[in-house]
Amino acid sequence: MSVPQGAPQGVIPTQLLKGQKALVTGGNSGIGKATAIGLGRAGADVVVNYVAGREAAEQVAEEISGFGVRAAAYEADVSQEDQVVAMTQRMVEEFGTVDILVANAGLQRDAPFTKMTTAQWQKVLDVNLTGQFLCAREATKEFLRRGVVPEVSRAAGKIICMSSVHQLIPWAGHVNYAASKGGVQMMMTTLAQELAPRRIRVNAVAPGAIRTPINRSAWDTPDAEQDLLQLIPYGRVGDPEDIAHAVVGLASDLMDYVVGTTLYVDGGMTLFPGFATGG
Ligand code: BGC
Repeated sequence: MSVPQGAPQGVIPTQLLKGQKALVTGGNSGIGKATAIGLGRAGADVVVNYVAGREAAEQVAEEISGFGVRAAAYEADVSQEDQVVAMTQRMVEEFGTVDILVANAGLQRDAPFTKMTTAQWQKVLDVNLTGQFLCAREATKEFLRRGVVPEVSRAAGKIICMSSVHQLIPWAGHVNYAASKGGVQMMMTTLAQELAPRRIRVNAVAPGAIRTPINRSAWDTPDAEQDLLQLIPYGRVGDPEDIAHAVVGLASDLMDYVVGTTLYVDGGMTLFPGFATGG
């Protein structure tokens, strides 16, 4: 059976987020890059945050400007409180406000459990969990200051946390990463519960295996890709655009009633495909 491969192209409605200001952390590569571009295509002005790789971030901003919206690259380490505060303030000064936060920046530092150093544990928790906490807190202050502007959106703000299938699926050799994403899951729902009465929607996207630099070894040879496909019922490795589409949708008023949900975008990885024939 010949079926379409790769993420669908050209499906983003170009006025969906018109007039909204989006901040994407880790927007210079992988899922963050595709998401920043997707939000720009949907009509949002976009701040592309990066911690290393200024040139890549500036290129992303330039590509976004090509859609006729505003874009800029801001450097900040999301795990550093002072830098997150400064980045958010700068965005408010230069863009007027923040309507959408995509708390995307994340990394892996993999090791078997008894070999994992405290530094590896801490780094992953600092960026993947504390980073999302800090960015969400600063964005929320701005959402509350501004309140709902009905011409722009029905919500005062939208936060989309980048989680992972590993908020659900345990992952041997990656205890720091899995713990960080489990933490994101509970942080996200708790914030959603606390902030919904203030008209702030907090949700998460949980990607499965997406072709990005973070997991290159899992897909960049035919053998590795074949192994990986055993875990994906839908029969293709995801593309960053698959995640961008989910984020654009969740950020938009199309999904105004979606609050505190994790949208798994994983080709069915969380369906425990091993049980299709076993158990
Ligand atoms: C990880 C990838 C992995 C995928 C599926 C993601 O969250 O960052 O390295 O391929 O989960 O296991």
